Amino acid sequence: MKNFYLSTPIYYVNAKPHLGHAYTSILADSLCRFHQLKGEKTFLVTGSDEHGDKIVKAAEKEKLDVKTFTDNISQAFKDILPKLGVNNSAFVRTSSEKHKKCVQEFLQKVYDKGDIYFGEYGGHYCYGCERFYTEKELLADGTCPQHLVKPEYISEKNYFFKMSKYQDWLVKHIEENPDFIRPERYRNEVLSMLNSGDLEDLCISRPKSRLSWGIELPFDNNYVCYVWFDALLSYISALGGEKGQAFNEFWNNAEHLVAKDILKPHAIFWACMLKSAELPIYKHLNVHGYWLVRDTKMSKSLGNVVAPLDMIDKYGLATFRYFLLREMHFGSDASFSIEALVSRRNADLANDLGNLFSRVLAMNAKYFGSVLPQKVVDGELELELASLAKNSFQNFQTMFENLRFSNALEALWELVRALNKYIDSAAPWVLHKAQEIPRLGTVIYTLLEYMRKISLHLWAVMPETAEEMLSLLGVKFDINQVNLEAEIESFGSLQVGSHLAANCNLFPRIDVVKPDNSIGSIGSTGSTGSTGKTKANKEKKVANVQSETLKSTESYLDFSDFQKLDLRIGTILEAEQHPNADKLLCFKIDVGEESTRQIVSGIAEFFNPKDLVGKQVVVLTNLPPRKLRGVESQGMILTAAYSNNENKEVLSLLTAMEHIKSGAKIS
Ligand code: ME8
Ligand code: MG
Repeated sequence: MKNFYLSTPIYYVNAKPHLGHAYTSILADSLCRFHQLKGEKTFLVTGSDEHGDKIVKAAEKEKLDVKTFTDNISQAFKDILPKLGVNNSAFVRTSSEKHKKCVQEFLQKVYDKGDIYFGEYGGHYCYGCERFYTEKELLADGTCPQHLVKPEYISEKNYFFKMSKYQDWLVKHIEENPDFIRPERYRNEVLSMLNSGDLEDLCISRPKSRLSWGIELPFDNNYVCYVWFDALLSYISALGGEKGQAFNEFWNNAEHLVAKDILKPHAIFWACMLKSAELPIYKHLNVHGYWLVRDTKMSKSLGNVVAPLDMIDKYGLATFRYFLLREMHFGSDASFSIEALVSRRNADLANDLGNLFSRVLAMNAKYFGSVLPQKVVDGELELELASLAKNSFQNFQTMFENLRFSNALEALWELVRALNKYIDSAAPWVLHKAQEIPRLGTVIYTLLEYMRKISLHLWAVMPETAEEMLSLLGVKFDINQVNLEAEIESFGSLQVGSHLAANCNLFPRIDVVKPDNSIGSIGSTGSTGSTGKTKANKEKKVANVQSETLKSTESYLDFSDFQKLDLRIGTILEAEQHPNADKLLCFKIDVGEESTRQIVSGIAEFFNPKDLVGKQVVVLTNLPPRKLRGVESQGMILTAAYSNNENKEVLSLLTAMEHIKSGAKIS
């Protein structure tokens, strides 16, 4: 049996998990499930990265001792996994004894080999990245390209890992293994880093006088290990160390999944560390892009994060996971917005997939009392469908295997849509009327059998819902019985005479009213939301709550939450087009008490700025300031959206009934 090992990054515990972390973990889970569907045994590693200055600083800020602080946040990372549907095999905490032992053994081994030496070093240290930068790596203004802050210059005696020794080997390894780092653009990036000059040795210690929260070097107790050197080893400590049985079983098929922010430590530090320790090099480093919120990377340090559990609570786990995999093209950045998510839900899940299920089950109930009919002879339509289906499954599998998740789902949806068309062409209601029962049975059986195959493929992406879909078709999911590759060609595993569900409502449509034109409309704080129920039928509940207009108490807002909004009447003093963005207008607004706010709003397509000067508007004044395409916005203007007579989306500004004093508080 083939084995598959995959790791996510070991996340820093300086803040709670956000959508970026959720994405990598969900993607990793999906990939492992896909390999399981192909009959492989998988091992998925995730965990928390707990050492280093950054964590100590975060704990100090919360006025907690480091241990309590890391325990809490590590637990939050662990607890979120089942809510994301992630079925990991190990969760490594770098502060655990098991991990510490593994790191110390590794350090000693590399030290004994002569690959670690003691020396003096001065460099620009970025606390966010937990690493030294060379001058040429910094931006022109001397700031760190990741965190946009000026690193501190630190000079001290430390231990160094002879990374430079492995530069030539690494270049050769990357050249000989074209898919070692993928997609290709990241391979090229690493090659250009390596070819742009001599690789520097890596400083792998921190003096205890400066930082004591770390793993002590086995050969000098005045120092702790550099957090990256420690963290990367979690990929091995998760397997019980290099002498562990799981290591023997899985390490030869190791792959890592990361975003591009941590390309260098994985592609360069980690590969050289493994080489030095004479361990097999991982097979693939799989690198994805960033989730952006309005053109900016979503990150805890920028404070623009989306809370994954809020999304799951509102839209359901299957929709959330489907959206993440469908929306982002692996390797490139993607934008997160509620509008895009809801639109995928309505178009792909409600209209295409959900509709297919409810139509076919309802017809089978009506024509055959929900008992599976027999398929007799294929007609032209079925032959056409068979070749399309074969392509669709084949493409799904090849693309998923090659990390092209979005294309894989698109390929599967070609079949979903073709099945909906097939219903229209085969017109079962006509066959029923004409009492052409054998032909009617063939059409219904064909539909249901393809729906079964689609559900099996979707288990990788939305496991719970896929199992529910299979059970609607009278099939009990058993991973040991699945052979996904065989499903490309085979046909006819549904048992004639079995009992199926009579109806279903897998993905009710979600009504959207408000365009995403306001700043800060997506969860702007790092809350992880309320406890998410991960039942597949949560999907249904969500939509019902929306359409039933606030019946249950859980839909009500706490009045104290409303009181947190500082809403005021403001008078527009100036309005002009944003210098760098067509959709944005920049305002100067008098919000009373001699205070003028600069506000940027995405309403340019609806208003002429000249018409707005002098108008009064409602302003939300206590949002944190944020930059929109380079211009700071210190609040938000409220608008109402509606469709006009021509069915066009338009906006109106909210205002007071008569001209009143600027700054009047709205309550
Ligand atoms: O770097 N878009 O931890 P970290 C996509 N502890 N993915 C994102 C993202 C975004 N906007 N933001 C975060 C560390 N991620 C180290 C790793 S590994 C030995 C040590 C995801 O908490 C993505 O997987 O900063 C990224 O690589 C990771 O979170 C960084 O997590
Ligand atoms: Mg980070």
